[in-house]
Amino acid sequence: MQTVETISELRVQIAEWRRAGERIAFVPTMGNLHEGHLALVARARELAGRVVVSIFVNPLQFGQGEDLDAYPRTPIEDAEKLQQAGADLLFRPQVAEVYPRGQAGVTYVEVPGISDILCGTSRPGHFRGVATVVAKLFNMVQPDVACFGEKDYQQLTVLRRMVSDLNMPVAIMGVATRREGDGLAMSSRNGYLSAEERRTAPQLYRILQGVAGRLRCGAREWAVLEQQAAEELAAAGLSPDYVAIRRAADLERPSTGDSALVILAAARLGRTRLIDNLLINL
Ligand code: PAF
Repeated sequence: MQTVETISELRVQIAEWRRAGERIAFVPTMGNLHEGHLALVARARELAGRVVVSIFVNPLQFGQGEDLDAYPRTPIEDAEKLQQAGADLLFRPQVAEVYPRGQAGVTYVEVPGISDILCGTSRPGHFRGVATVVAKLFNMVQPDVACFGEKDYQQLTVLRRMVSDLNMPVAIMGVATRREGDGLAMSSRNGYLSAEERRTAPQLYRILQGVAGRLRCGAREWAVLEQQAAEELAAAGLSPDYVAIRRAADLERPSTGDSALVILAAARLGRTRLIDNLLINL
């Protein structure tokens, strides 16, 4: 596996692969790689002959008082994991390479509406930061296909909308969430949990499963189901940010005839903000 830190080195390799007629799959990450990321790399390998992975902790998507400085950085372990997973190229730019005019001079990509609901309500500007960096990375890597985890379901939906609205020639592939044995969705932020919080954290998924069960039994009072789940989260020791039952395609509120739904939740546990979701086809 080749590792490059500059856009010019990256472009040399991409151009060579393009001349050879190779397809390129891309996996953007912020590093601290776990099995969830490696599942994205495995899927990328199925989709294209060449796999590029980026590791870039994007300052633009962290709000004030969020965990930009504390975000776990494990470059040596990450490179070893990617080598073993069969990635062809690791792109690891510095902040100045991605934002050469500083963060004040950035040209932003905004995906309105869908960026401002759910996680966007408590993290204003977050999805603008994500859309901007992913658009820039797509322009740098020029992939045929890019893989993102379904764990960040709102992010996946925002990026699908961005690619569609801006006619970007990149197929977006969602990859199923990887879970620990007790159901907790894998996340780099799980490392922030204390031992006691770690025992509580799987309640988030358990409560989402409860909502899915009620929907399968015919319940359709979305607001009642959401409120009940939020109360269950609070009783389990989490501080709910939201629980929402939405249409899977566009995160709009469903009408009774909609069958492809997603139940999304975010909750705080100590200093950690956990998110999870469950796709359900009724
Ligand atoms: O999901 C992530 O790790 C990040 O939001 C992403 C897509 C790499 C953009 O920084």
